[in-house]
Amino acid sequence: MSTLVIVGAQWGDEGKGKIVDLLTSRADVVVRFQGGNNAGHTLKVGGEQIIVHLIPSGILYPNITNIIANGLVVDPSVLISEKAALRERGHFQKDSQLLVSDRAQVIMPYHKIIDHGREDLLGKAKIGTTGRGIGPAYEDKASRMGIRVGDLLRPASLRDRIYNVMDEKNFLIERRFKRPKLNPEEVVQEYLSYGEQLAPHIADTTIVLQSFVRGGSHVLFEGAQGTLLDIDHGTYPFVTSSNVVAGNACAGSGVGPNVIEKCWGVVKAYTTRVGEGAFPTELTGSLGEELREKGGEYGATTGRPRRCGWLDTVVLNHSVRLNGLTGITLTKMDVLTGISPLSVAIGYELDGKPIDYIPSDINEFGRVKPRYREVKGWDEPLSDCRSFDDLPKNARDYVEMIEHMSGVPVTLVSVGPAREQSILRKTPF
Ligand code: GDP
Ligand code: IMO
Ligand code: MG
Repeated sequence: MSTLVIVGAQWGDEGKGKIVDLLTSRADVVVRFQGGNNAGHTLKVGGEQIIVHLIPSGILYPNITNIIANGLVVDPSVLISEKAALRERGHFQKDSQLLVSDRAQVIMPYHKIIDHGREDLLGKAKIGTTGRGIGPAYEDKASRMGIRVGDLLRPASLRDRIYNVMDEKNFLIERRFKRPKLNPEEVVQEYLSYGEQLAPHIADTTIVLQSFVRGGSHVLFEGAQGTLLDIDHGTYPFVTSSNVVAGNACAGSGVGPNVIEKCWGVVKAYTTRVGEGAFPTELTGSLGEELREKGGEYGATTGRPRRCGWLDTVVLNHSVRLNGLTGITLTKMDVLTGISPLSVAIGYELDGKPIDYIPSDINEFGRVKPRYREVKGWDEPLSDCRSFDDLPKNARDYVEMIEHMSGVPVTLVSVGPAREQSILRKTPF
């Protein structure tokens, strides 16, 4: 057995897709364990760019099994169109490349209506969700009103379950959100058709995964979002609706904690955030603009401009602790070329007192002021560097400063979006 969990260590979009795609060359199975199509993971191979939202980032390798595990909320129409788009581009030619857990939750049309309706009513207090129905689908899971992927294959029980919940949903849709009611029978027919199309992929994935584990396979767990968006440990309420932290690789896929060996956090060399919520090191002026343009910081899911700021080691150390990180994969170092000096937050001040943690109260977090250390930047382009020694001294110092401040080795440095633009310093399995 050899397992590695990859998680986002900031507010998402750290480059997890690129890292998972790269490391899949050494894996046997890739498992997404939480979230849904709120994720947008970018893969860049041979000049081609592919963005996956629901399908794991190992899908470009024809002989690897990819698993959408029980911890996800699955929008079947998105899954079907993502599969078709990949197929049209010459990828994902075999159905056996993807298994979908029969226990995963299904995103229903009312979840998307409720997600949008709530955000509209919240006005300025909105979360800035992706509008994909993620929160309402996880709510239904917890309140035991959810439809599961396996139900799509059982017409009678699917109809029963949909009719049972739709009175309440239509009440909300019509009375609270002032939108037209949905017809339950139309929903049943639509989702039965999704069930037929997805049937070749639906399985009890826990049994499959456990046999990989017992057989000594290399298992790569792919996280979505980032630790600061975790429902418990993130900047609540400006978070997503699932546990993002590495611990959820177990519950979200059906393996015990003894199975997890390593956990690498993906860290962007600076910080970005999409959606609302406090962001202490945010740069709102021209430097923020420069990072956005150089880093191409526009959402892979919604196209929204990402808010940009300096690297924050309080955020980083929060992630180190919450995930038990054993390695850091540092991405987008190339984007910092030409910016000097660089600032890095080494602590906060809250109401005049120094602190080195993320306060649980969002209002307190909104008031913290970063304490910065200035470090020298570099002018050399990094995109052709292929070994640590190829990096200019100040870039090496930046990497070593991160190791020093976090106590975690930087196992991989990424210097561009393509697979080959990577400096692997430690073996993943
Ligand atoms: P994810 O959600 O964590 O998978 O990240 P996204 O795909 O949403 O956003 C990361 C963006 O940065 C994508 O456009 C990637 O192609 C790109 N990217 C990843 N690593 C690097 C890197 O080292 N340098 C540069 N310039 N771009 C990168
Ligand atoms: P990847 O996997 C960045 C953010 C949304 C919003 C909040 C809640 O690509 O890193 P949701 O639709 O989940 O209810 O929205 O979470 N968010 C992300 N931000 N990257 C993501 O995924 C995100 N998934 C959700 O912008 O602020
Ligand atoms: Mg993304």
